[in-house]
Amino acid sequence: MKKTALALLFVAIGLGSAAANDVIKDAMKKYHKPEDAICKKVGKGEATDADLAELLKCYTAMCAETPGKGDKAKWVEKCQALIGAVKKVQAKDASGVSDFKKAINCKACHDVFKGK
Ligand code: HEC
Repeated sequence: MKKTALALLFVAIGLGSAAANDVIKDAMKKYHKPEDAICKKVGKGEATDADLAELLKCYTAMCAETPGKGDKAKWVEKCQALIGAVKKVQAKDASGVSDFKKAINCKACHDVFKGK
């Protein structure tokens, strides 16, 4: 079981490409930037189950991509933190929202992974 999960993770990493990234860009435009973006609802504890499922899918896709800048392994770590936090929120774990707020730090991630 564990082996399968690991293998999948490596496949996900292998699929990434080094070019500027539309998947990441679209995820940002849709889920992070708008005033009513899902990520903002999660921070306020207002995201619905459907919102959370959609966000999880988005972060899973992002995790498989390679950002234009920075270290891929660290990127996967950042994305996994987001994924882990969303899963906690889904499970109604009280620490989920605060984990998410830490993981969603825009600047902390942009400084390392966002090209010009
Ligand atoms: C896990 C890392 C990460 C987090 C957290 C993150 N971003 Fe980003 N963001 C990126 C990367 C990487 C890019 C560059 C994508 C590219 O163009 O290849 C980006 C690009 C963007 C862009 C430009 C999109 C475009 O049209 O080119 C916007 C807007 C943006 N992020 C908004 C946000 C906001 C708002 C937050 C916080 C709520 C946030 N991001 C949090 C990684 C992150």
